[in-house]
Amino acid sequence: MSHSDVPGAAAAGDRGAHPAWPGLFVSFEGGDGAGKSTQLVRAAAWIASVTSREVVRTREPGGTALGQVLRTLVLHGEDLDPRTEALIYAADRAQHVAEVIRPALRRGAVVLTDRYLDSSVAYQAGGRELGADDVERLSFWATDGLLPQLTVLLDVSPGRGLARLSDAPDRLERAGDVFHLRTRQAFLDRAAADPGRWLVLDASRSREELTEQIVARLVPLLAALPPAGSTLDPQAVRPRSVRGEAEGARVVSTPAEAMHPENAAPPRDEGAW
Ligand code: TMP
Repeated sequence: MSHSDVPGAAAAGDRGAHPAWPGLFVSFEGGDGAGKSTQLVRAAAWIASVTSREVVRTREPGGTALGQVLRTLVLHGEDLDPRTEALIYAADRAQHVAEVIRPALRRGAVVLTDRYLDSSVAYQAGGRELGADDVERLSFWATDGLLPQLTVLLDVSPGRGLARLSDAPDRLERAGDVFHLRTRQAFLDRAAADPGRWLVLDASRSREELTEQIVARLVPLLAALPPAGSTLDPQAVRPRSVRGEAEGARVVSTPAEAMHPENAAPPRDEGAW
C-alpha cells in the first residue's frame, strides 16, 4: 500500500489530485495506559500558544456522534467476531475523516487525534491476528488514503500501561497479555518501517520530557505549513512551561474527546523546561 497520500507533504492528499492542504494532521498512538491522551492535550496547548491556527483535538473511536455509538458497541458489546470489530473501527474512522478531520485540514487547522489507522493495524492485525495488509487496505479505503504527517508512538510495556488504568477494563483491555504484546510489537514494527512519519518515545519518561520531544518534531512541521491566517512565532517555539490552553487560543474538541476523563481539566503546570 502506498503511503503517498499525505496531505500538505510533497505528495498531497485526496489521492494525489488535491493541492497541498493548509492543515497539519498528527496522530497519537500506543498501548492502553501509555499516556497518549495527556501528551495530546499538552501538545495542543503548546501549538495554541505559538500559532493562531485552529487546533482540533479528537479521538478514535468516537470522534463523531455516530462514532460514539460505535465506540460503545465495540468496547462494551459482547461476542464480537474479530472481522466485525475491524469493520466497526473502520466505519468509525470513515465517518471521523469525512465529518471532522478532512474538513478541518482543508480549513488549515492542526488536527490532533488520539488513535487513528495504525491502532487498527496494531490491535486488529497484530492483536487479533487478522492480515495486516487486509486491515490496512480496509482503513485506507475508509479514509480515502489519508495518513497523518506525524504519528507519535508512546511505547509502553503492556504490564505497566494496563496497571495505570483506573476504570473497569473494556473488551480490548481484557484481551490478555499475549494480545497486548503482539499489539505493542505491531506498533513498533510499523514505526520502524516508516521512520519519516513516526516519532517513537519511551512512555516511561517524564511528561515534560515527552512533551519536549514532541514539540521538537512539531516545530519544523508547523513552520513548513502554507500560510493560513498565520503561523509559527519563532520566538515562542520553546515555551518555559505548558499551562493548558493558552488564553484566546482556538482549541476545539470533538464531543467525545471533550468527554474523555483525562481532558476534564487542563494539564497542570509542570514547571520550567
Ligand atoms: P482508547 O481507550 O484509547 O480510546 O481506545 C479504545 C480501545 O480501542 C483501545 O483498547 C484500543 C482499541 N482500538 C482498536 O482496537 N482499534 C482501533 O482502530 C482503535 C482506534 C482503537
